Amino acid sequence: MIKAIDSQRCHSFSDRWHSITVFLAAFLALAALTACDIERRKSDAELGLNPQQISGRKLYDNYCDRCHRPYSTKGEKGPGLKGIFQHPYLPMSGLPANDERVSEIIRYGRHEMPGYSQTLDAQGMQDLLAYLHTL
Ligand code: HEC
Repeated sequence: MIKAIDSQRCHSFSDRWHSITVFLAAFLALAALTACDIERRKSDAELGLNPQQISGRKLYDNYCDRCHRPYSTKGEKGPGLKGIFQHPYLPMSGLPANDERVSEIIRYGRHEMPGYSQTLDAQGMQDLLAYLHTL
């Protein structure tokens, strides 16, 4: 009788360890999978930004970051903006990738994207464009 209780207790004890181990393994697998996505944010200095680009980055963080990833081409609500000025045409609209077109999109918006003509003054627009050129 005592033996039976003992072995049962022992059994449930090892069961518990088993589920903890399974849980840990699942957690570690998930952490490993998402690790590539959580990249540490680089400082302005690490990116080699000048003062104008730094103020452009602040504007970007405030107004654009929630929809556009700056260092990835992967889309969020809008397309990722990595290398936005490195190709002759913009990835989504197919418009020429130049200051004129891009500032128009920022000023007036496009489809789901709001316009920022009320938010950014001429200096802000220049700073933002300067930062976008570093992506
Ligand atoms: C609410 C989400 C949202 C915000 C905030 C936003 N955008 Fe957009 N953006 C979009 C979407 C969606 C598109 C795609 C529009 C389309 O259908 O052509 C887009 C398009 C663009 C494009 C053109 C891409 C292409 O390939 O044609 C640029 C450049 C751009 N956004 C820059 C910015 C900048 C800079 C800011 C910050 C001032 C910003 N966006 C803020 C959602 C957003």
